[in-house]
Amino acid sequence: KQEPPPAPAASAPASAAPVPEVKTFTVGTDAAYAPFEYQNEKGEIVGFSVDLLTAVAEKAGFKVKFVNTPWEGIFNALAQGDRDILISSITITDERKQTMDFSDPYFDAVQLIAVKDGAKVTKFADLKKLKVGVQTGTTGDEVVTKLQGKTATTTKRFESTPLALKELESGGVDAVVADNGVVIHYVANNPGAKFKTVADSTFAPEQYGLAVKKGNAEALALVNKGLAAIKADGTYAAIYKKTFGV
Ligand code: ARG
Repeated sequence: KQEPPPAPAASAPASAAPVPEVKTFTVGTDAAYAPFEYQNEKGEIVGFSVDLLTAVAEKAGFKVKFVNTPWEGIFNALAQGDRDILISSITITDERKQTMDFSDPYFDAVQLIAVKDGAKVTKFADLKKLKVGVQTGTTGDEVVTKLQGKTATTTKRFESTPLALKELESGGVDAVVADNGVVIHYVANNPGAKFKTVADSTFAPEQYGLAVKKGNAEALALVNKGLAAIKADGTYAAIYKKTFGV
């Protein structure tokens, strides 16, 4: 009687040939920041950041699960291990670098002022004594705090940038300072608010990065690998065009 042929290597016992595991990373994002990260009518988290990280994950071979995470608790959630990655239009700053690691930059931004159409504001310094709305703990908060002073009662802090912009609409503040992309998007989509934007060359250029917990070299390497791949093959440009139309 003939011996059966030896089993091919592929059907060796699972213990001998582990299936390469596909990691799923939990991603925190403050989804009140259109067009970067926001919720659509169905409550799904969508936007430039979601498209970008989904494409990055596909290239680098991992999976992502987006979890809406309020800005005020977002860095804590990362530090405590409740989130593996943050993508939330986070500006890379030296201060933040002390408590988290950033990917290569993926987007250029700058602060932009929103005021009512008729306002006599032509430069950032004009906001010195005005009521200015910002999102708490953002780079917009930082520049306005620097201009007005730490104890100024004219700096009005909000949980989200849309809340600050709503307050400008209702006249509770005289101006809002926030990232250009979000301000431009809001102004374009709310013509009834009658806002105009004011740029100021004294605002420092900013760059967005994805953040991981300090020392999470594995996630960081995967993210950077995927980012490089989507920048190289035109995927980044396509996502950019889909979001911004150019
Ligand atoms: N780029 C600004 C910062 O890092 C604002 C980011 C706010 N992001 C958000 N999803 N609310 O401080």
